[in-house]
Amino acid sequence: MTNDAFARDHVARNLETYDAIADHYDGVTAAPAIRAWKEASMRRFAAYLPGTRVLVPGCGEGRDSRYLQSLDLEPLSFDLSSRMLALARGKDPHGRYTCLDLRDMNRLPAGAFDGIWASGCLYHLTKAEFIDCIAACRALLAHSGVLYVSMKEGQGERYEEPTLGPRYPGGDAARALLRGVRFYAYYQRDELLAALAGFDVLHEQRVEPAEGGFEFWLRKSDACAG
Ligand SMILES: C[S@@+](CC[C@H](N)C(=O)[O-])C[C@H]1O[C@@H](n2cnc3c(N)ncnc32)[C@H](O)[C@@H]1O
Repeated sequence: MTNDAFARDHVARNLETYDAIADHYDGVTAAPAIRAWKEASMRRFAAYLPGTRVLVPGCGEGRDSRYLQSLDLEPLSFDLSSRMLALARGKDPHGRYTCLDLRDMNRLPAGAFDGIWASGCLYHLTKAEFIDCIAACRALLAHSGVLYVSMKEGQGERYEEPTLGPRYPGGDAARALLRGVRFYAYYQRDELLAALAGFDVLHEQRVEPAEGGFEFWLRKSDACAG
C-alpha cells in the first residue's frame, strides 16, 4: 500500500461508494443462487444459536436482517451508510436499525447477543482493525454465542475497484451499477483462523456461487474469559 492510498480515511471512502450504489445494491446482487446459499447459511447460523438476540453488523439495506427475523430471531442491525440505513428502515419499519461504525462495536453492551451475523462487511476493515473487531465481537457475545463471518480469500489489503468477475452476483448489471473504489482486506485461511482466536470453528465452507469467499461459523470458546 502506498501512503497515497491511505491519504483519506478508508471507512469514509467506502461509505461514499456505498451511499452512491445503495439504491442498486440489492437489485443487482440478489441473484437467486447466492440468496439461496446465504439463506441456507443463515438457517445453519440460527440452528447453532443459544438464544434469539442477534447483532447484524454492516447490514446494508437489511435483506439478511429481514430473513433472520423470519427465522424468529430478534436482530439489531447497524451500518454506517445513511442511504443503506434509509432503505433498510423503509423496507422494515418495525425492525431495529442504527448507525454505528464497525470499529465502535465495543460501545454496545457486553454479553448482549447470542449471535453475530457479520456477512460481507468485515473485509472492509484493515487487518489491524479486524483483530480489534473480533475481540469486540467476543465481548458482545453471551456464553456459547456464535459468530458468523464471510471474508474474501487472497492476499494483502488495498483499495480497489472491484473486478466483479464472471461469477459475481448480478453479472453485467453489477458491473455497470456497482462501480466505485472500496478498501478490501484479503486473507489466507490460516491467517484468518489465527485472527479468530477465542472461537472454536463449528463449520466452514467456500461460497460456491460467488467469487473467492469463505464462510466460518464460530462458537465463543470458554478457553479465555472475557
Ligand atoms: C458488501 S456490503 C454488504 C451488506 C450486507 N451485509 C449484505 O450482505 O447485503 C458492505 C456493507 O458494510 C457497510 N460498511 C462498510 N464499512 C463499514 C463500517 N466501518 N461500519 C459500518 N458499516 C460499514 C457498508 O455501508 C455496506 O452496507
